[in-house]
Amino acid sequence: MMNDRENAIRGAAGLSRRHLLAGAAALPLLPLATLGATMEIPSFPENFIWGISTSAAQIEGAALEDGRGPSIWDEFAARPGTIKDGSTPAIACDHYHRWQEDVALLRDLGVTAYRFSIAWPRVLPEGTGTVNPKGLDFYARLVDALLAAGITPMPCLYHWDLPLALGRKGGWLNRDIAAWFTEYALLMTRHLGDRTADWFMLNEPSVVGIFGYGKAEHAPGLGGGAAALFAALHHQNLAQGTALHALRAERPGLRLGTVLSLQPVVPESPRPDDRAAALRWDAAWNRIALDGLMRGAVPDLFAEAMADLVKPGDLDRIRFPVDMLGLNYYSRMTMREEKGALLDAGWGKSPATRYTAMGWPVEPPGLFEILSELRALYGNPAVFVTENGAAYEDHPDVASRVEDTERIAYIRDHLAELHRALAAGCNVKGYMVWSLLDNYEWAEGYGRRFGIVRIDYPTQTRTPKASYRWYREVIRSGRIG
Ligand code: FCB
Repeated sequence: MMNDRENAIRGAAGLSRRHLLAGAAALPLLPLATLGATMEIPSFPENFIWGISTSAAQIEGAALEDGRGPSIWDEFAARPGTIKDGSTPAIACDHYHRWQEDVALLRDLGVTAYRFSIAWPRVLPEGTGTVNPKGLDFYARLVDALLAAGITPMPCLYHWDLPLALGRKGGWLNRDIAAWFTEYALLMTRHLGDRTADWFMLNEPSVVGIFGYGKAEHAPGLGGGAAALFAALHHQNLAQGTALHALRAERPGLRLGTVLSLQPVVPESPRPDDRAAALRWDAAWNRIALDGLMRGAVPDLFAEAMADLVKPGDLDRIRFPVDMLGLNYYSRMTMREEKGALLDAGWGKSPATRYTAMGWPVEPPGLFEILSELRALYGNPAVFVTENGAAYEDHPDVASRVEDTERIAYIRDHLAELHRALAAGCNVKGYMVWSLLDNYEWAEGYGRRFGIVRIDYPTQTRTPKASYRWYREVIRSGRIG
């Protein structure tokens, strides 16, 4: 059962990740561009990198095999009432055993890059200290197979599956995590850095801070409100920065980055309190992570609230000239004031006409807005769109084939906006669809399908959807027509 505290937080906030993006696009805070889709058939530069993203906890399964330690998601999902369909990531897509089949799917798709994540508890079952050689071997085999298939591996070190042993020590609330994470980052780059140059540190620290620590919707399900959110976000920034500086010093040849979820935040109405709510949410969702990394700054709005957390020297450790910024984009966010909600912001109503099965409005121009903002205000860093994609109710035929025209339209419309951003001078290097396979969608369980390959979970059969064939053609031709 959810405890009273969790219920109170959910009830008060009225916010869930599922509904998080269901807001109106009324009044952009940063009106950066005129909108409107391009009419010509866009073609992409020859050296544009086409890829796809997955994450360990969502596909690997084999939760306790070959010496892997438990993660906070294993523990969280086992608690009744936390996951919509009551499922756990224990088996997921059984990728740990079927990885060769999955690499073959990647090869046939023709991607030039593959972003996957490393499960920290698979290589360091206790989070620090004793190394699990079988875990290291698994990722070495995967990397070698990718390289043999002509695919650039782009591992991400932390996609939410914190070792439970570290979770029990407070997880991201504990400042010591900067040292734990750096030990792990050095272990992996020492092991694979001779073959893998591109490394992302964290995935979406704001989601971890807000949904795992501020609210109780994601692991570890803390529900500690704004104070917990600030601590978890600051310590992620600190751990990321500490690791980035250590990796740069030890192996200057690596290309280093991190992955942020950045979304334009707009107020539901012009009312001052809605605008204030949107500004606060923007500061929490976008700015703590982005301004920390790119500017060594804490958003003014939270300077006082975070003053005790930010120790002398922290901001210099957090700031880092990344070689690549990973951008996950799904939609804009529209907020309205809602007293009692986390940071006094609630989800507003969206005028969008299309929604995905997550309840997220489809707002492709927001991708152009974010890329334009990175160009205009953050020094135009090299960006990879590391996640973009959609869950829809797929209707398989008897042979499990899926004609997922809505997913194709979603990806196509976002690629058109990405192309518009390229034409406007944004430094975008590549694009990765979320995701290769239907997978474990966190608190939604297995009910939400994001894959361009269908998984029949009882048999673990993989069947490419129409979107897989469509994306293969985009990659081949460099055009999205
Ligand atoms: C992102 C996560 C990813 C997946 C997609 C749908 O926020 O990084 O793991 O859940 O959403």
